[in-house]
Amino acid sequence: MDIDNDSTCVSVYWVSVPETADMDYLKAVLSKEERDRLGRFRFRCDHDSYLAAHAVQRLLLSELTGQAPETLEFTYNEFGKPELVERPGSPAVRFNLTHTKGMAAMAVAIGFDIGIDVEWMQDGINFQDLSDRHFTRAENDYLECVPSRQRKTAFYRLWTLKEAYVKAVGQGLNCALDSFNLLDIDTVPRLADSRKETMPGWHVESIVPSDYHCIALAIYHGLNARPLICVHAIALRDLARRSDETRYG
Ligand SMILES: CC(C)(COP(=O)(O)OP(=O)(O)OC[C@H]1O[C@@H](n2cnc3c(N)ncnc32)[C@H](O)[C@@H]1OP(=O)(O)O)[C@@H](O)C(=O)NCCC(=O)NCCS
Repeated sequence: MDIDNDSTCVSVYWVSVPETADMDYLKAVLSKEERDRLGRFRFRCDHDSYLAAHAVQRLLLSELTGQAPETLEFTYNEFGKPELVERPGSPAVRFNLTHTKGMAAMAVAIGFDIGIDVEWMQDGINFQDLSDRHFTRAENDYLECVPSRQRKTAFYRLWTLKEAYVKAVGQGLNCALDSFNLLDIDTVPRLADSRKETMPGWHVESIVPSDYHCIALAIYHGLNARPLICVHAIALRDLARRSDETRYG
């Protein structure tokens, strides 16, 4: 599990979390608060994806900063977005984490604001109701034109792209999802607010890691060139090896 630390790219790491995985060994790299939170999950799938996500977060950030994973400290903005407490001389690492049934993912960049979202594309949810309530007129018009057998995937692509954006901004769902548009969703998705045609400096992208999951990434690169996006799948055995190395050297 090599980590990119190049300021011209944004890296996405995702890990598949099978239902039967035994990952207890990963608890060693978590903080006490994270272990306490693990104990409060009611469903095994939520417990496991939280554990994998926070282990990935600590192991990757440890590699980038040279600090032991369990000693990394975070601060939070008023909406709960975590940032690393930086030590003098360490790079300006930005990251964002997401987890859902069966999968965890993290985006890492040097200097860019980023947001990431993964959703399990479950059947049987009333996405018509969700899109009516949270999407703009233009986005709902787009969904209506998608053939019905592709509509669920199209809905999840839009939903994750919008969540990734509000997570990159740092407001999470305090930013109304219908306050901005995602356009040209099938080519390179474009962000636009209701008054302007686009939002310059932003890039959003979908990643499809499995038939059941949809990941989206949002990056604010401002006047800089759009960074490259490097996507890495991490195997659970790589996490095990990495957590052993941090414990036993
Ligand atoms: C952030 C938010 C969009 C996450 O949605 P989600 O789909 O349920 O969860 P995801 O798995 O995609 O992301 C969760 C991770 O996002 C990060 N996160 C939390 N708040 C965030 C924010 N405002 N912006 C970006 N990232 C955030 C955390 O790393 C969190 O991990 P954790 O819950 O395991 O600690 C949603 O929880 C939200 O809007 N929260 C805001 C709540 C708030 O305003 N709180 C104020 C008091 S702290």
